[in-house]
Amino acid sequence: SSTHENIEEKTLAIIKPDGLLGNYTDDIKRTISEYGFHIFKEKTVQFDEATVKRFYEEHSSKSFFSSLTKYMTSGPVLVMVLEKDNAIADWRALMGPTDARKAKITHPHSIRSMCGLDTQKNCVHGSDSTKSAEREISFFFRELSADIITEHDEL
Ligand code: TYD
Ligand code: MG
Repeated sequence: SSTHENIEEKTLAIIKPDGLLGNYTDDIKRTISEYGFHIFKEKTVQFDEATVKRFYEEHSSKSFFSSLTKYMTSGPVLVMVLEKDNAIADWRALMGPTDARKAKITHPHSIRSMCGLDTQKNCVHGSDSTKSAEREISFFFRELSADIITEHDEL
């Protein structure tokens, strides 16, 4: 027996419309695997307005909400479940800050630096907590129940 506990996590990642249309998918997937993530599930989705409003409901009162929903419905997105130790925080770190212009200065190796444009067209999404990862994964993959999203495997 061992005292070390390995926390295998899943998180939800999305390549947004400008990422897909700009042909960044292969570069992003290469980066994902270089950093040790496994793509557990993936599917291409065309958001409609009602669905993306539900997905981003926490931002419904924000001034940018209607332009965000317009952007997110402007073309297909690639939705992925990424799996790795510490996947949630590590994917957020690999994406870089929300404002892609800032990412280009402070996080030049981040994905948003590579393919984002500004605070809205920032190329990728990532869940920001265990709770939102569970909500967002089951939003797209209803067959994945919350208890398999964070697995605690004894080594
Ligand atoms: P937020 O949760 O703050 O950022 P993140 O994606 O880094 O978790 O915002 C969600 C999305 O809303 C963001 O990726 C792009 C959009 N957004 C805007 O369009 N304008 C803004 O000023 C902000 C803060 C976000
Ligand atoms: Mg967020």
